[in-house]
Amino acid sequence: MEIRRVMPAEELAAEEVVSAAFGEPPDGRVVQMMRALQTSGAARASLVAVVDEELVAHVGLSRGWVDARREAVEVMVLSPLSVRPDLQRRGVGTALVAAALETAEGHGAPAVFLEGSPYYYGRRGFSSASALGFERPSARIPDPGFQVALLSSYRPWIVGRLIYPEAFWTTDTVGLRDPELQRVEAQIAAGGRAPGD
Ligand SMILES: CC(C)(COP(=O)(O)OP(=O)(O)OC[C@H]1O[C@@H](n2cnc3c(N)ncnc32)[C@H](O)[C@@H]1OP(=O)(O)O)[C@@H](O)C(=O)NCCC(=O)NCCS
Repeated sequence: MEIRRVMPAEELAAEEVVSAAFGEPPDGRVVQMMRALQTSGAARASLVAVVDEELVAHVGLSRGWVDARREAVEVMVLSPLSVRPDLQRRGVGTALVAAALETAEGHGAPAVFLEGSPYYYGRRGFSSASALGFERPSARIPDPGFQVALLSSYRPWIVGRLIYPEAFWTTDTVGLRDPELQRVEAQIAAGGRAPGD
């Protein structure tokens, strides 16, 4: 398996992998988000996993900010992460997360944030962002799902609210929404794993 930056001719293949992973039709909400991140200039890196010359997985990194007391600090947001359904649970997602963190480190980002399962990302370099003093960009992100990986240029004064790029709002892809949000919150309150964990 090769992990590298997506090439311009592969954009459509990457979108197909994303749609398949998220169970969405072509041009679904997540693909629209990816396009909006690109066209608005917020996208910072798009990595793909290639097996036998076939693109099988994708991860995106975009620019956000931590609204710290000293200044707004540019950070990265990891989204979306997608592995073709027939190749899931073979370590491809884990390898892409590691590559994304390396890429963010190479860009000098102090931190990478994401929304996701603490069970999945907790074993892949991420931990609770709230526990480290960060505030969620939306109350529709269940607190345990608000995760961060701190990188080598991180400094302790970089705390505050995470500000998302506009593309997440224009495509309405921030957090969960009722009734799913309510269901996940109830599961968390009962001490269970949220769906997808
Ligand atoms: C989540 C996802 C990226 C994981 O990639 P992957 O290549 O299958 O994962 P890996 O093989 O590296 O890791 C396997 C681990 O993920 C868990 N896992 C993988 N796919 C899963 C799924 N569909 N549902 C629940 N858990 C899953 C496995 O239980 C395993 O757990 P472990 O940490 O105890 O080992 C992939 O399942 C996917 O594309 N899902 C659909 C899109 C999505 O939800 N993206 C993430 C949004 S935050």
